Amino acid sequence: MKLRLMSDVLSETKIKFVLKTKLFGKRIYAFWSIGSTNDFAYRLAMQGEDEGALVIAEQQERGRGRKARVWDSQFGKGLWLSVILRPDLPSSNAGLIPYLAGVSVSRAVEDLTGLQPEMKWPNDVMLNNMKCCGVLSEVNFKNGKIDFIILGIGINVNHEAGEWSDEIDKIATSLRIEKNERLERADLLAEILFQLEQAYDDVKKNGFGQLLDQWKKRCPVFQQNITILQEDKKISGTFINLDEKGCLLLKGEDGKIKKIVAGDLLV
Ligand code: BTN
Repeated sequence: MKLRLMSDVLSETKIKFVLKTKLFGKRIYAFWSIGSTNDFAYRLAMQGEDEGALVIAEQQERGRGRKARVWDSQFGKGLWLSVILRPDLPSSNAGLIPYLAGVSVSRAVEDLTGLQPEMKWPNDVMLNNMKCCGVLSEVNFKNGKIDFIILGIGINVNHEAGEWSDEIDKIATSLRIEKNERLERADLLAEILFQLEQAYDDVKKNGFGQLLDQWKKRCPVFQQNITILQEDKKISGTFINLDEKGCLLLKGEDGKIKKIVAGDLLV
């Protein structure tokens, strides 16, 4: 126990020791500090790196969130990781891949902590209405097909309250804050990749139907009235479903259904 606590750093050796996956983590690129794990993984994939490679860092100097936002990636506090996927799926399925991450992270957190994460569209994982995990999925197409997808996942694990800027502190939480105990990041990483691999195998065989059902079950505002913020425009309606590309279907008061591709959910 003592030894594990003393070596919290996620070295390649430590990661190999805990992983229980065949594909994810087949190659491991573990960094002390990096610009962004997504950027590094993207470059690797462009150079032909195989599916399953994992890029992980103790700290990101330029961690990126959705919509070119900065992702706070403090040293040793969270899991900042990217995996390379090369799915043999129709290009129209690319927008569904982030749902894999949300559901897998949620299952892993539930199994290890007993906490019950909730989903916030498009792909945030929430605890107590505060964000503990974000997903940044970046796709490269070649000849109209998916060449690769970089699935980037950031999870706030061992932050304590007040360790972010005031602005982030209002909207973010960590597993440690919610569980009131420090977590072993290596165990969480192993469980997330395990859940991700199972879910990935399943969608390749059976399609995304069951996965999206799982996501909807964990989304408290599914089939409720919601408001989406798009730049400076607000759109309200009932969240009636997700479509086959992962877009949110919103039924307005006039009964018309709008397809929402991107935006921020205000609840
Ligand atoms: C969001 O909610 O805005 C998405 C956040 C995604 C953050 C992760 S951390 C690992 C990977 N590398 C990055 O630069 N971003 C993603």
